[in-house]
Amino acid sequence: MLPAVRRDPTGVFMRAARRFGEVVYFKIGPRRGYLITNPADVRHVLQDNARNYHKSPLYQKLRMSIGNGLLTSEDDFWLRQRRIAQPAFHRQRVAELAGVMARAARETGDEWQSIAADGRPVDVADEMMRFTRTVVLRALLGGDLGPFTSKIDSAWVVINEHVGNSFWSLGIAARFQRAKARRFEEARLVLRQAVDYVINERRRNPSDNADLLSMLMGARDEETGEGMTDEQLRVEVTTFLLAGQETTSLALTWTWYLLSQYPAAQQRLEQELDTVLAGRPPEYSDLAQLPYTRMVVDEAMRLYPPAWGFSRQALADDTLGGFHLPRGWLALVIPYVLHRLPAFWKDPETFDPERFSPERSADRPKFVYVPFGAGPRQCIGNQFALIEAHLSVATLAQRYRLQLVKGHRVEPWPLITLRPRFGMPMTIEKRQVRGQMANGKGEVNGDVSAMSRERSNRAITPKIPSDRS
Ligand code: HEM
Repeated sequence: MLPAVRRDPTGVFMRAARRFGEVVYFKIGPRRGYLITNPADVRHVLQDNARNYHKSPLYQKLRMSIGNGLLTSEDDFWLRQRRIAQPAFHRQRVAELAGVMARAARETGDEWQSIAADGRPVDVADEMMRFTRTVVLRALLGGDLGPFTSKIDSAWVVINEHVGNSFWSLGIAARFQRAKARRFEEARLVLRQAVDYVINERRRNPSDNADLLSMLMGARDEETGEGMTDEQLRVEVTTFLLAGQETTSLALTWTWYLLSQYPAAQQRLEQELDTVLAGRPPEYSDLAQLPYTRMVVDEAMRLYPPAWGFSRQALADDTLGGFHLPRGWLALVIPYVLHRLPAFWKDPETFDPERFSPERSADRPKFVYVPFGAGPRQCIGNQFALIEAHLSVATLAQRYRLQLVKGHRVEPWPLITLRPRFGMPMTIEKRQVRGQMANGKGEVNGDVSAMSRERSNRAITPKIPSDRS
């Protein structure tokens, strides 16, 4: 199965689930395991019997890139790091950070004014990456990346591609690909320098703001009273910088794509925004009145879950769906497949936000929709990401309509995350806001000048992934 899985992992898992059912035996290279698609089994592995599982060896590759931190560590060490970071993601705290998110979304909207006036397409994947990075830096790490701002996106693309492509490899071919290895090391260096910049800036200008970075820097071991080593701090800041921007930006990118393909949903969204907001920019307190907007985000993450697949390794023998799972074997949990199971999702390939209405969700088992994982290792940033996505879709869709460039080929590219393989070039059209206008002219106010600063950097560069096969 190895070549097939490397070539088309989502396709292979989709076909396997369709053909063989709820538990499918896989031997992929040296690894054996089951693809599981019964929600009870998913719950068993991720939640009820989570103690019997570690993240799978596939995570080793990620650990080699970003280090042993909250995302990649296990057991007591993981628990300690999770406890340190958890207060920064408390519901109340995240709600307080919504102001930062709303402001960043408005700034993006302001910048889009001249793009819209120009009519020139931009790569929305890049736009969203820039937006979510700004949010993570301002809300959690209290700053910016200084001179590394412009380099970080391409560095992350290289890392993502390298780790994604080597996920299933045996490590033999990779050693012979010197040029690729060098690009990867260069990208890692950029990332490391950027993270050092964030930490050093904070050390130079300590803040009394109780954000994530100050929690990480101020944490003390209960027994020894010692803080994290510089290296550990670096690993955690890297983890949050990457985990916090990449996934959310992809959720938003796929949302814009889907809205452009389903005009009825786009219209319904605009109707909700115009009726509820009447032209004023949305704030956190408006979100409860914007349920359709939230359903749009949920449905986009169903069809294109940014974390499209993850896996666990059994520490001791277990039983899944009546089948014996020997110690050391993998359990593959693939949201991309779970989110399309015809038994739980009618017309699974159709974008239909209202399937997330309370009535239509009532009978659906929780574990067939797991964009943020589940159990103790569930995404720590899920509320953060959902509020950020909800607010930014409301802010930007209120002012603009995005259209995919005609004829552009859109293809999901399952690396660590699910990216659009050839980017997402879209035009941004200004729309008339129905209802009460903020400036009395049928447009929401914005800072046009901000855009001219950014504009020159926004030309689309063709996306040519190195692994086109
Ligand atoms: C739409 C956005 C996001 C998606 C789809 C997503 C998805 C996920 C998933 C599926 C996992 C669990 C992986 C597993 O069980 O193997 C996870 C873990 C994690 N996520 Fe997210 N995530 C998102 C946003 C964020 C944000 C905004 C942050 C931080 C600011 C973040 C930080 C983390 C961390 C630190 C972990 C590891 C948690 C642990 O193991 O204790 N994520 N994420």
